[in-house]
Amino acid sequence: MNTYQTFTINVDENIGIVKVNRPEALNALNSQFFDEMGSFLGSLDEKSGIHVLIITGEGKAFVAGADIAEMVNMRKAEGAVFSQKGQKVFRTIEQLAIPVIAAVNGYALGGGCELAMACDFRIASSKAKFGQPEVNLGLIPGYAATQRLSRLVGPGTALYLLMSANQINAEEALRIGLVQKVVEPEELMDETISIAKKIASKGPKAVKKVKSVVRKGLEIGFEKGSALESEEFGSLFEDEAKEGMKAFLEKRPPDWQ
Ligand code: CAA
Repeated sequence: MNTYQTFTINVDENIGIVKVNRPEALNALNSQFFDEMGSFLGSLDEKSGIHVLIITGEGKAFVAGADIAEMVNMRKAEGAVFSQKGQKVFRTIEQLAIPVIAAVNGYALGGGCELAMACDFRIASSKAKFGQPEVNLGLIPGYAATQRLSRLVGPGTALYLLMSANQINAEEALRIGLVQKVVEPEELMDETISIAKKIASKGPKAVKKVKSVVRKGLEIGFEKGSALESEEFGSLFEDEAKEGMKAFLEKRPPDWQ
């Protein structure tokens, strides 16, 4: 696997851990990050052996947003391109076949909250802080928080956070459904890895289909989403569900090979 300057990658059995690694700028996301992340995500195929991906940050931040030092001199066209670049990479994360979990260790602001939202779900340290502070800078979000935040927490809460730029703590993020679990900082990685390993022990094709049917269903609507569910449900009968159901009836663990 390649090495990159803006993040590190560690693989523990079949769990990949990506750690954003620009602590001197609180892991702010720059063009280099998006180029490198795009290339890494493109290399994630069956041969990579990664079944679940975890994204976290080095130091006291998960990610404190897009890189303001890079954006400060941009003009209209460059700003739009910088937004599209980030959106494309976050969309790739969202559409990756395998599950992606955000382990939010600290500040998840602006582009950082957007990165966490592009993941399938979020486990947060009790010290994590969330927010969309773009209006403080005279900006709006550029990596699709206007779309994902309202879908995750509802339009009222999303507009409140986007307009006020208020930071919320992990407990509040849990209450509004932005994160799914809060743990003590020293337990964050162990807990997230343990959840990832649990997911990796399930029927691998079923896990991927759960992700794709839920995600596609949110975009194509209930009726078409339910039709897709029936189709994918059926397809698993010719596949690993045979082994899964047989193993249940034979009172033994399934062998997904
Ligand atoms: N971009 C570039 N550099 C950043 C950064 C960012 N988003 N956030 C922090 N840094 C840098 C700081 O400039 C500082 O660098 P120096 O040491 O060279 O001065 C270093 O990281 C440490 O930051 P602070 O000294 O500010 O740390 P703090 O603990 O006092 O404050 C903070 C932490 C509250 C997170 C504060 O850093 C902050 O408010 N950061 C900016 C948050 C923000 O506005 N994010 C949104 C960016 S816009 C965006 O993301 C748009 C989009 O959707 C595409």
